Amino acid sequence: MRTSIYLSRFLALLLCIVSPFYLAIRGSASLSDIALLLSSLSERAEALHVALTFPPAAPPAPISKKAFEAFRPPKAGRRNRNPSLPNGLAHCISSFEQYPFLAEQVLQRKYARYSKQTPAQKAIGNKLGYTAHFEKARKGIEVNTRFSEQIAQIAREDYHTGSQVLEDSDDADFAVVDLAFGHISRDWSTQGTKERQAVFPPILNMLEQHFGADGRGVKVLVPGSGMGRLASDIADLGYEVTANEVDYGSILAYHLLINHTSSLHEHILQPFVTKWTYQANPSSRYSTLTVPDHWPNKAVKLVEGDFLKMFPRDGEFDAVVTLFFIDMSENVIDFLSNIHRLLKPGGVWINLGPLKWGTHTALQLSVEEVLQLADLLGFNVDHTSRKEIDSLYAEQPETLLKFTYVTQLWSATKRE
Ligand SMILES: C[S@@+](CC[C@H](N)C(=O)[O-])C[C@H]1O[C@@H](n2cnc3c(N)ncnc32)[C@H](O)[C@@H]1O
Repeated sequence: MRTSIYLSRFLALLLCIVSPFYLAIRGSASLSDIALLLSSLSERAEALHVALTFPPAAPPAPISKKAFEAFRPPKAGRRNRNPSLPNGLAHCISSFEQYPFLAEQVLQRKYARYSKQTPAQKAIGNKLGYTAHFEKARKGIEVNTRFSEQIAQIAREDYHTGSQVLEDSDDADFAVVDLAFGHISRDWSTQGTKERQAVFPPILNMLEQHFGADGRGVKVLVPGSGMGRLASDIADLGYEVTANEVDYGSILAYHLLINHTSSLHEHILQPFVTKWTYQANPSSRYSTLTVPDHWPNKAVKLVEGDFLKMFPRDGEFDAVVTLFFIDMSENVIDFLSNIHRLLKPGGVWINLGPLKWGTHTALQLSVEEVLQLADLLGFNVDHTSRKEIDSLYAEQPETLLKFTYVTQLWSATKRE
């Protein structure tokens, strides 16, 4: 049986090798066509080598959960490499530092797909000006590199890491930086105004309904504060705001904005420069943003770390505001119980967001179930406050894909 599999593989690969030569000799192939054929021949020879050296894989046997855990990549190992630093910090610093290489890899992958075409196809691509995009994108990456290197350098100073290598360069993650760029443009650029205008004013109005126009002396917690714009806008109204965030991708970029910015629109970035799909016009990928478009409020106190662990004192806040947050929990009962615990009796919880539960969550509840849960935990839900608000999030300009969240707004007070 195995011998016949080897034989059929061998014949198929032999056919792949011989046919290009036959076509090249028969047709009027140019020298460059033949060079291309030879290069594809070398790839096929390698494939032949692999096929003959390694036996065909047997169908996988069912794997036990224990064995599966044993084969999982050692993620915890990566986190433990710098035990003196907070969880995730080294990874984020390293990712910001490695951004130019990570972004170049994204371009290289695009280029590899482009260059696999036939010479005739490439000539058409050239007529479309396609290759010029690689150079233009590289210029955008240089712009972004200045921004991400600044974030990393400030982080090294703030957390006293010294100049040591913080993790294997292979572990650096493009997504960390990409996500931070998306969040920063939504929160702190003029282009993000429309997205913010859809969701911030309804929250600010609800705070005003509860506490009046002047927020002085009212303590508000914003857990999962991301890049911190909502917390800052609440503080602008006079409230005493504590923001809380666990992700260093956001925290480090926020540090740059709040502590190392001397003028509005000082920092420049092109967050979409590696995103080439869903575009009516290629110019949208080069759109340049400047941040911040508004001064971050320095009165906001940022608590770095897990919302479930960082606030030991019960009844500390008059209001807790959650924006795109409660569905981040591993168990929503933990998040809602913690919100309840942290509120003073009669304090208000204002929530706006979709219920985009991850696959890791213990419970994936509907809105009605979340509100029933709130009631069970000791909240009076104000059903008259409920609204649905359509919201985009960190959308690329002029994109052909519009992802609309039908967010749910409500307020609930802690029973006295
Ligand atoms: C979808 S983002 C929303 C950020 C921000 N509220 C906004 O609307 O732009 C959710 C945020 O919650 C943060 N987060 C998730 N779990 C958290 C936890 N246990 N403690 C603190 N922050 C958390 C994430 O890091 C992320 O920044």
